[in-house]
Amino acid sequence: MRIISSVDEYKEFLSSSDKKQTGFVPTMGALHQGHLSLVRKSLSENDLTVVSIFVNPKQFNDKNDFEKYPRTLEKDLELLKNEKCDIVFVPQTDDIYNNYTGIKIDFKELDKIYEGKFRPGHFQGVVDIVYRLFEIVKPDKAYFGEKDFQQLAIIKLMVKQTNLPIIIVPCEIVREKSGLAMSSRNERLTAEQREIASFIYKTMLIIKENAKSGDNPQTWINFFQTEINKHTPLKYEYATFCEPNTLNSVSVFEKNKGVQLCVAVWCDEVRLIDNLFLQF
Ligand code: PAF
Repeated sequence: MRIISSVDEYKEFLSSSDKKQTGFVPTMGALHQGHLSLVRKSLSENDLTVVSIFVNPKQFNDKNDFEKYPRTLEKDLELLKNEKCDIVFVPQTDDIYNNYTGIKIDFKELDKIYEGKFRPGHFQGVVDIVYRLFEIVKPDKAYFGEKDFQQLAIIKLMVKQTNLPIIIVPCEIVREKSGLAMSSRNERLTAEQREIASFIYKTMLIIKENAKSGDNPQTWINFFQTEINKHTPLKYEYATFCEPNTLNSVSVFEKNKGVQLCVAVWCDEVRLIDNLFLQF
């Protein structure tokens, strides 16, 4: 496994090697089984797998969240080595943003709703870094977890609008035994908080099992809010039912249609998101 830590070194690597079918897994480190499932998928579908580790300051609207974001580089490298990852790209902030101010896309309001409403500027920061990484790594395929459902939709939009010849591969959410969606931020939870946080998914499952066509989604949003807030230190932030492709919110559950339930919940100082597909 080769570790590349500057943009110039990456360019040099590209110009001195034959072009290989390349799979790319962009990450912010603090790797868990969810990330590793993306890496394994990439390894099985490409000749070369590149993982980037970069905690991107531009996508954090909350300074505290940026500072507290877990950083476990040594452990991450060990995990990637065990997976037989080919290249790990670990750039520095000044280097990656040198002469690069970002990219403009038409978000079609997707940056303003759900996550965007609570994290202003977050999605602009995400597209800026993902575009920049794509420009450097030049992958054929890029792998993203479905946990960040809205991020995935926005990245697909960015790739389409900028005509990048990259296939975006969505990968299923990986969950802890308790049902809690795996996330680097889980590292910041105590064992007891992790257990309580699993109530997020459990409540979503109750909705999946009981919601039926004809129901008003707001009833189930209220249910989610009430149930979550019963479990201190969980604190409801939002829940929405949306059409999985457009992310338009739905006003009634219709027979034979699917909706995505997307939620954000605080567990003490840690913000957690999750989502689940419901078919009627
Ligand atoms: O999903 C993430 O970890 C980040 O948003 C990403 C895609 C690596 C960009 O920094």
